[in-house]
Amino acid sequence: MSTEDKIWEDFIALNSRDEPTFELLPRVGELEDRRNWTVDTSFATADAIAAMEAADADPLPATEDREGYNGDRHYEYWISGAQLASKIQQTAAEHKVEPGIYAELGAASGRVVRHLARRRAFGEIWAFDINWRHIVWMERHLPTNIIPVQTSSIPTLPLEDASVDVFSAWSVFSHIETFELQWLAEIRRVLKPGGIALLSVVTENQIGRMDKTWPMYEPLTTHPRWSPTFADELKEQGKIVLRWRNDRSYASNVVYTKEYIFRMWSRMFEIADYQEQYPDYQDMIVLKKR
Ligand SMILES: C[S@@+](CC[C@H](N)C(=O)[O-])C[C@H]1O[C@@H](n2cnc3c(N)ncnc32)[C@H](O)[C@@H]1O
Repeated sequence: MSTEDKIWEDFIALNSRDEPTFELLPRVGELEDRRNWTVDTSFATADAIAAMEAADADPLPATEDREGYNGDRHYEYWISGAQLASKIQQTAAEHKVEPGIYAELGAASGRVVRHLARRRAFGEIWAFDINWRHIVWMERHLPTNIIPVQTSSIPTLPLEDASVDVFSAWSVFSHIETFELQWLAEIRRVLKPGGIALLSVVTENQIGRMDKTWPMYEPLTTHPRWSPTFADELKEQGKIVLRWRNDRSYASNVVYTKEYIFRMWSRMFEIADYQEQYPDYQDMIVLKKR
């Protein structure tokens, strides 16, 4: 898209003037290949997973409509969302948080919320994304107890103060190039006291472990900001943004140190839990509003 073709929304959101049409994949129970290569299925029994498959009547998004997740391994995409939904429910129960209002930033086409919605896991399920196509996908193809709303790169959420019980953002802070602290303050504003936010980030744990098979390996190591001393520079900076373009939202990879997260994010929240290497290629942080 040339600069002349741009509309103002393109600077703070994506695809806002699209009139989308989608190629759909079958519902999970109709997938011919139901192999799962990478996802740990210990979150539920085989019978419980079979029941979840039977209950999910909605089509699956094509790979291009789900941020490329899991390539052509469509079942793996579905079950990775089921795993995260269970993790969210389990973490909420551990922290004695009511299953009232759930909100997710960067929900894409609903990898996680489709499961929470089917399970009626929360009274309200809000799904935000800057990409209008994802919002339309969820609105057309997922249960009506999801409230999909397009947001922008400016940290504002259309939610009341102290209203949300559980918030999450999966692989989103690993792409928020700027206003990270303002986003955290916004999440803090909407959470109830005692409410929790589950956020995933890329840290030195992944930089030290990743190999060529990891999706982030290529984008990180081919970026001009990458260097053989990247890990040392990261340790010194606490956070490094690898920007691909400067003229639109969502065009960067962001890497943090665990030390930075504890030093900065703990000023706004209690860090209730920190799990390295969960899910898959990130670390998961559970923040609690004091
Ligand atoms: C790597 S994808 C992860 C998608 C989804 N969370 C999942 O795990 O399947 C990042 C998503 O966040 C969205 N996104 C990026 N920056 C955002 C922002 N500032 N506000 C809301 N959504 C954002 C993108 O459009 C994309 O759908």
